[in-house]
Amino acid sequence: MPAQPSFARPPLFTWDFAADPYPAYAWLREHEPVHRTTLPSGVEAWLVTRYADARQALADARLSKNPVHHSEQAHRTGRVGIPGERQADLMTHLLNIDPPDHTRLRRLVSKAFTPRRVAAFEPRVQQLTDRLIDDFAARGSADLIHEFAFPLPIYAICDLLGVPAEDQDDLRDWAGAMIRHHGGRRGGVGRAVKNIRAYLLELIHRKRADLGDDLISGLIRAGDHGEHLTENEAAAMAFILLFAGFETTINLIGNGCFALFRHPEQRHLLQDSLRRGESALLETGIEELLRYDGPVELATWRFATSPLTIGGVGIPVGDPVLVVLAAADRDPARFAAENTLDLARADNPHLGFGHGIHYCIGAPLARLEGRSALATLLTRLPDLRLAASPEDLRWRGGLIMRGLRELPVEFTP
Ligand code: HEM
Repeated sequence: MPAQPSFARPPLFTWDFAADPYPAYAWLREHEPVHRTTLPSGVEAWLVTRYADARQALADARLSKNPVHHSEQAHRTGRVGIPGERQADLMTHLLNIDPPDHTRLRRLVSKAFTPRRVAAFEPRVQQLTDRLIDDFAARGSADLIHEFAFPLPIYAICDLLGVPAEDQDDLRDWAGAMIRHHGGRRGGVGRAVKNIRAYLLELIHRKRADLGDDLISGLIRAGDHGEHLTENEAAAMAFILLFAGFETTINLIGNGCFALFRHPEQRHLLQDSLRRGESALLETGIEELLRYDGPVELATWRFATSPLTIGGVGIPVGDPVLVVLAAADRDPARFAAENTLDLARADNPHLGFGHGIHYCIGAPLARLEGRSALATLLTRLPDLRLAASPEDLRWRGGLIMRGLRELPVEFTP
């Protein structure tokens, strides 16, 4: 990638920026690594772009996740946070709270959402992956976002939570309405969150009377052993598991496939290794795709609760801080050949799943889904290729996530 001229900062948050934010982030990292900006919503926030500063900020207890610490007018007008803030009890979830509440709730969910539960879920994820590919495999073309990356994680999380099969399409439609607002249409989001809340509360109520082997039952059981978990807390937990595990995984599959299409030599190395039955390159490859063009562009909101400095810059109390994971993960001070996609990259402590106490609790599930999706697509549809020019693809709007709205592909049926 050509070096950016040092005198002019490429614009942020424009159409071109959405398609390729990396040159602007490279400029910021070099010239203004802790940069105060006005977001498209009008809110003023600090962008942190260097890897070392990003890691430090993500682990800094003086940066609160609780929006009550945001001093500006934007908080009062409800522009900070995710849609549906009026369903306030649903919003008191892991990503919006601090210790000691965060510690207690995270401990509870960790008891139910164990690596063992996720590993046992592997055959089910594979079955879902195959079923979704079956639906378009004979056609020779598909939209990989709508027909594959979108349904896979929502069905997977629904299964894991214990949402009965007959209700899963409702959840899929509501979750879809929540992310569609990033495309500019806000209508329906509030209604979708309201529906999800009512549904989850009712489901938790039913499960309480008839505990099963699913994650919601596990949450209820964990809460019954000493530490208290209210029904609202359980609903907020189920909600964040749905919400945090949904759009992120769509983007891992979408951005991941797109990166492989643009790097045919890397894609062929991966396909050859899968043909030989090896999994090592797939595993390092998923980590590299998370680093190179990860699903979460900016970590979620943090607010300064006492004066602090990041990278030598003073942050006033009440100011929002946004850690730009996408910029940190291409910091040449940490990653050699930072703009090169190298699926075999060995030294890769990327921040794609965050860092510190809010580190992604769903990382094992996300990796499992990513492995299953990419390996199965490349094995079953070996000549899978992009059916549009990369410049014509549209990226979903929205501040936090980075992902494609559609990904048309073709292949030999
Ligand atoms: C937190 C990324 C999939 C559940 C996070 C954070 C990141 C992240 C960056 C930290 C945000 C911050 O500190 O501001 C991802 C990516 C995924 C993914 C890239 C897919 C590739 C999932 C899945 C689930 C999940 C599948 C669950 C089903 C969560 C939860 C948190 C979280 C509950 C909040 C943890 C806490 O605050 O303690 N994720 N995630 N994520 N993630 Fe994920």
